[in-house]
Amino acid sequence: MALPSINPTGTQAWKKLSEHFKEIQDVSMQEMFREDGLRAHEFHIQWESFVVDYSKNRINRKTIDLLLDLAEEVKLKEAVSDYFSGEKINRTEDRAVLHTALRANPNDTVLVDGQNIVPEIFEIKNRIKAFTDQVLSGTIQGFTGKAFTDIVNIGIGGSDLGPAMAVEALQFYKNHLNIHFISNIDGDHVAETLSRLNPETTLFVVVSKAFTTQETLSNAQTARKWFLAGAKEQDIAKHFVAVSTNIEKATAFGITEKNIFPIWNWVGGRFSLWSAVGLTISLAVGFDNFDRLLSGANQMDKHFKNTPFRQNIPVILGLLSVWYTNFFNAGSEAIIPYTQYLKKLTPYLQQAVMESNGKNIDRNGNLVNYQTGTVIWGEPGTNAQHAFFQLIHQGTKLIPADFIGFVQSLHGDKEHHNQLMSNFFAQTEALLNGKTAAAVKTEFGQQGIIGEKADFLLPFKVFQGNKPTNTILIQSLTPETLGSLIAIYEHKIFVQGIIWNIPSYDQWGVELGKQLASSILEEINISGVKSHDSSTEFLLNYFLKNA
Ligand code: F6P
Repeated sequence: MALPSINPTGTQAWKKLSEHFKEIQDVSMQEMFREDGLRAHEFHIQWESFVVDYSKNRINRKTIDLLLDLAEEVKLKEAVSDYFSGEKINRTEDRAVLHTALRANPNDTVLVDGQNIVPEIFEIKNRIKAFTDQVLSGTIQGFTGKAFTDIVNIGIGGSDLGPAMAVEALQFYKNHLNIHFISNIDGDHVAETLSRLNPETTLFVVVSKAFTTQETLSNAQTARKWFLAGAKEQDIAKHFVAVSTNIEKATAFGITEKNIFPIWNWVGGRFSLWSAVGLTISLAVGFDNFDRLLSGANQMDKHFKNTPFRQNIPVILGLLSVWYTNFFNAGSEAIIPYTQYLKKLTPYLQQAVMESNGKNIDRNGNLVNYQTGTVIWGEPGTNAQHAFFQLIHQGTKLIPADFIGFVQSLHGDKEHHNQLMSNFFAQTEALLNGKTAAAVKTEFGQQGIIGEKADFLLPFKVFQGNKPTNTILIQSLTPETLGSLIAIYEHKIFVQGIIWNIPSYDQWGVELGKQLASSILEEINISGVKSHDSSTEFLLNYFLKNA
């Protein structure tokens, strides 16, 4: 069954939201907080060890009611049940979208084409566990009988960003293995990484769903050549494993079938870290921690599936994002985690969000007449404060931001953590309240700034405030809470895709550049420059002449 395909702008709720926007666009949040002392109480959700406070948004009760009406009119509820059921909701690729099944419980049933896929998922999970245990214990060894010390994940996009983000995020839980990631086709990336490694103790995990991706195959070939400089062809089997749907191509590369971990076509690349694509995560932190990550995501799946929308974290966050994108015309969203462990969360979410919802054709095949997609960017706090917060505080753009913080640190140094968290709370308060001219004048008085100088400086020192933020406060960073956090964003993407009536699970937009690159490579290597637009032709000729 296909997902509903309703143009959101034609709904009653959208019309009412447009009217409501006119009423609310000039009302400041400062005023809303003054008028309603219980605002935070009304606009927050507490779930497991998460508190999501969305009261610092330019909304009132009516806004949420209307956004929930919109969700109902576009049939979000029905869509959620199709999403989990194994229906082929990715129609442009004729596939189900079942990364949620990867974190199912063993007794669950998820049908794809009438077949329960859960037993097969657990069969592969058992293989991941066995392989991880054997590498960690040194039972599986390199060609000279030494235990592995270094793991190199070779992949790109979803076959890199998810594992890289999770390994970084879970460093606290890491074991003795050194983990490396090679993704870019830029030869520096592979060369720099290999230069630090010993072939005898290095295990390569080649991750490519298709096993045709130029970057991954080229980097894997380079790694293979580097390895063979000191080893024999038959040793490849001991040092290279693959994760792919394409067993044939992986075998042709020289990887033995028992070392190929399959994934399925109902797992999208950007949602694949829960599958064998997460093998590197399992190796880095042990299978039990990998499984805890999956279980945290599974808990969030249940919350998303079963909780009324008003209390449903991904639904509320998705609706708020639509509110800003389509009514306030905000073009981007910042993600600011207050932990260095989550420094790769933003690049990961950039692919997840922008590859999913960067679409301009709706599910009926028509060009949309409204904004979709959000530009995602950000850096961990407090570094972000000293880099780009100026623009969020006093710039001309409205940039809704998610602040993600933890009640308890992992390092246990209270002094550091309290300093960090004081910044965390201070920033959202500053973004909300800003600083009035009166407050600036009082400060001037205390600092002895008077007369013309005070008059001149005053406008530069005023902050308007009224900048929206969500605060996601989590007890501590564990594999489970990381899993839940990622799943929140996955489901938020789904919610927005349904409202915008776009196909969130394909990525045709990345194909054209790939096709052109392969014909240009032939021109560079063999045939010389053919006919292009004058700019590309000029640049190619310049490159060839000076290369
Ligand atoms: O960028 C396009 C894309 O298809 C992503 O969706 C995917 O994560 C990445 O390329 C890598 O693909 P593969 O795992 O098939 O090598």
